[in-house]
Amino acid sequence: MKFLWFFLPLFLVAQESFISDYEYGEMLFNNPRGVSCLECHGEHGEGKVIVHYQDIHGKQAIKGADIRKKTLEEMINAVSSYHKVMPRYYLTDDEVKAIYEYLQIKNKAYLNQ
Ligand code: HEC
Repeated sequence: MKFLWFFLPLFLVAQESFISDYEYGEMLFNNPRGVSCLECHGEHGEGKVIVHYQDIHGKQAIKGADIRKKTLEEMINAVSSYHKVMPRYYLTDDEVKAIYEYLQIKNKAYLNQ
């Protein structure tokens, strides 16, 4: 029995680091240093209407792109460059990678279709 108590903390630590990569990506996607990606790209990165407005052509919408099929490279470029709507972020490549991997795991079923 003593044996078990010795290994229990190790098991817990191993479990912790198993989820933390995903959770780290989730945390960055939901709350990076700046506006949340989720606000504009939706909970799964599927894209989302940010705002509706009216102009001379009628009803218009500004939409955050579907980013589920973006490659890591596209993601790094998008995050660190200037856009009309999307803010520029100062995230490291590793942080963008964590977001990327989080979305890959979260959208596994969709991406394997
Ligand atoms: C204020 C809204 C907004 C936020 C917040 C936002 N985006 Fe975007 N994003 C957009 C819009 C709109 C586009 C479409 C292209 C553009 O505006 O230039 C886009 C495009 C992209 C693209 C695709 C670029 C391409 O190659 O076509 C990626 C990848 C992306 N966003 C990732 C992210 C990530 C990751 C975050 C969080 C760190 C984020 N975005 C936060 C609005 C947003």
